[in-house]
Amino acid sequence: MPIGLHARAMDSFLALETLLAHADADPEELSVAPPIHQAVNYSAATAEEFDALNEQSRPPHYYRRYGNPTQARLERVVAAAEGAEAALATASGMGAITTTLVALLSQGDHVVAQHSMYGGTLSLLRDVAPRFGIEVTFVDQTDTDAFARALTPDTKLIMLETPSNPLLRLTDVNAVTALARARGILTFADNTVATPFNQRPLDQGVDLVMHSVTKAISGHADVQAGIVLGSDELIERLWKAHTMVGSVISPFDAWLALRGLRTLSLRAERQNRCAQAVAEYLAGHPAVRTVNYPGLPGHPQHDLAKRQMRGFGGLLSFELRGGRLAAEQLISALRLPVRSPSLGGTRSTLVRPAAMWSNELTEEELAEAGVPAGLIRFAVGLEHEADLIVDLGQGLAGPDSENVE
Ligand SMILES: Cc1ncc(COP(=O)(O)O)c(C=O)c1O
Repeated sequence: MPIGLHARAMDSFLALETLLAHADADPEELSVAPPIHQAVNYSAATAEEFDALNEQSRPPHYYRRYGNPTQARLERVVAAAEGAEAALATASGMGAITTTLVALLSQGDHVVAQHSMYGGTLSLLRDVAPRFGIEVTFVDQTDTDAFARALTPDTKLIMLETPSNPLLRLTDVNAVTALARARGILTFADNTVATPFNQRPLDQGVDLVMHSVTKAISGHADVQAGIVLGSDELIERLWKAHTMVGSVISPFDAWLALRGLRTLSLRAERQNRCAQAVAEYLAGHPAVRTVNYPGLPGHPQHDLAKRQMRGFGGLLSFELRGGRLAAEQLISALRLPVRSPSLGGTRSTLVRPAAMWSNELTEEELAEAGVPAGLIRFAVGLEHEADLIVDLGQGLAGPDSENVE
């Protein structure tokens, strides 16, 4: 199913670009930019009003762990962008995932997840979930039947990440959600890599979507935040757990994220174009063994990517013929991308995921996740693609190249 441009959240069927600018507009408000509500607690005029606040779900003017007006605005705009009824913003992407798992799972439950996912998610599912009596089966996301085979009578949740970080593998979202729905199992998709500009999993039957807002949603590498989106009913369940987990977004981070979000469509369009050009350049370079990018016709799931994505995103990964040593030489030689984690910001970042995730995953676990030691992850920023390609060309010419600093 092609991705719609319009959000269910607003009856007016405005395009994503318009929603990013207007979805939280308040006709009563005189300031054009939103204020920041920094207060932790708010007062009630009477004892009766105070009692009523305690009975209300998600009161924005009560106590910050329960809600905050600046946070609510961020939630409204991301919900509009994803076509969700409701959203819950958190202090990080991992906070969003942890809150969701705490809300939905109990001892004895079973989860199906993918071998290829963000390292923090893998570590949470592999090392922490079993300590609470939750069993997790990991499957090859490119094989829809593997999801079906992994289900047990106790399966409560299927966790997806498509495209996955850092291998850019895809899950057939329509197929997996159809099999989950038929069995009453919830699906939860990490949409961080794609962004709502490129993909809207709720339109394809997913029950809950999350983002590391830290990445492209905020877009400027100055916010740590997360968000989960879905139906009013599911987000209400998550909110109850959230008041206890306490992964609370700061109002300033919510405000900064909202500010960054206004330009998501401009940035995502630019990053799609840039990543495509960089991927094509690398795919044609003799020193490069493989390039993982769903926008390349040679990507094994390129047809699926064209069906379920509007654009192919700003993240790619690749391996050099020279393996890990050559990868480290290239990473050190490049002048523009910063040797840093994270993605979706203004400056390109470049890492060896096997090194970045060595705190969270053992060598065996990395191998199981399909992450080779020599894999380089390249998250494009907002630089011009021609400059990045010149830089890569110089770096790939070798560390002794006179053009390399
Ligand atoms: C795909 C993906 N999901 C989740 C996260 C976790 O987000 P955060 O770092 O905001 O906790 C990350 C972080 O890199 C990520 O890349």
